[in-house]
Amino acid sequence: MAALDDCYNIADIRRAAKRRLPKSLFEFIDRATEDELAMRNNREGFERWRVMPRAPLDVSKRDLSTTLFGKPMGMPMAIAPTGAAGLMWYEAELCLARAAKAAGIPYTMATGSMVAFERVAKEVGGRLWFQLYVWPDRQITYDLVRRVADAGAEVLQVTVDTPVAPNREYNTRNGFGLPFRPTVANVTDISLHPRWLLGTLLKYLLDGGMPKLRNHPAEFNDASTRAAIAPRLTLSDSVDLPEIRRLRAIFPGKLLVKGIMHPDDAVACMEAGADGVVVSNHGGRNLDAAMATIDALPGIAQAIGGRGTIILDSGIRRGLDIMKALALGANAVQTGRATLWAAAAGGEPGVTRALDLFRHELSTAMANSGARTIGDISADLLVR
Ligand SMILES: Cc1cc2nc3c(=O)[nH]c(=O)nc-3n(C[C@H](O)[C@H](O)[C@H](O)COP(=O)(O)O)c2cc1C
Repeated sequence: MAALDDCYNIADIRRAAKRRLPKSLFEFIDRATEDELAMRNNREGFERWRVMPRAPLDVSKRDLSTTLFGKPMGMPMAIAPTGAAGLMWYEAELCLARAAKAAGIPYTMATGSMVAFERVAKEVGGRLWFQLYVWPDRQITYDLVRRVADAGAEVLQVTVDTPVAPNREYNTRNGFGLPFRPTVANVTDISLHPRWLLGTLLKYLLDGGMPKLRNHPAEFNDASTRAAIAPRLTLSDSVDLPEIRRLRAIFPGKLLVKGIMHPDDAVACMEAGADGVVVSNHGGRNLDAAMATIDALPGIAQAIGGRGTIILDSGIRRGLDIMKALALGANAVQTGRATLWAAAAGGEPGVTRALDLFRHELSTAMANSGARTIGDISADLLVR
């Protein structure tokens, strides 16, 4: 696939996704909330940290592997949950899971997915994690948790940073939402992107109709009607610590609370039985004044003090970003947009390309900083 071979970094992959996707879909994955300060600030947070490299050293044998929850990882990263991934590429969830498995890293499936968790487990396997949005109807929520546990979900990431829908004006302007609102502008836009129209939408239409939210109970899974936004299954604005304890009691695997930015909340989640936290501001998509995750990380790492697993996301675009996050206390990072742009640009080979770029860049960053192993990456490599 020539276009992918011409992608030398994640920014190139983003441009390839932009070319293939209708504007409404591209903006849905690419943009953030309100004035997009938090998204920019995530990047600036990484850029403020500089490396004080160590040399001379023999760095000819470098090892990017690590362990997470006692299991080996090809490199210290996972794929973050991104809802509606299957709109970007036909059954993108399978592509993301396959590429992750081949790279020896976990794939986190979002609640809002176009392929059911059970199907990914059956057809791909690998280390499968599941992201949960707690619904107002707790019974349906707990049924879903039991379903994914039975299907072999290793980790449940409970997202707590989206109690209400954030202001994303571009989606409204683009008619992008549930149900989809056809306008002259977006129908024209779709017809101007035939690779997406034929390669994605038409495939669904030939394969039983409009894409559906396959983790939802059947009566709520039609994304093209109002069924999918039934009040019982919208966002819940009452997810609190007792709820984390209840989920802890239901889910037998590892539990991560996603969207933690305050050290006290990290500690409280650990005390409620979580195995760790995901330091995340949702890629700057929710609260526009949210601090950069890389700035929140040191305080959380100090508060948890090695008692739990820390994963960081929001703004990871380069291998160097991974190294900086590990140096400041993360056990691993996860990528949202980077791997989703990649799926949109080229399906499984696209995601494989993105993961290869991250691996190569991390290896280069480590060599040039004097780190041979993931364990060599520590805070004294960094300066502000
Ligand atoms: C298109 C898109 C959809 C997302 N959907 C979800 C979701 O359903 N659940 C969730 O917890 N996070 C979701 N996220 C947030 C990601 O899991 C992750 O926190 C964020 O993308 C990380 O920032 P990055 O995109 O800069 O890597 C989504 C992000 C994007 C870009």
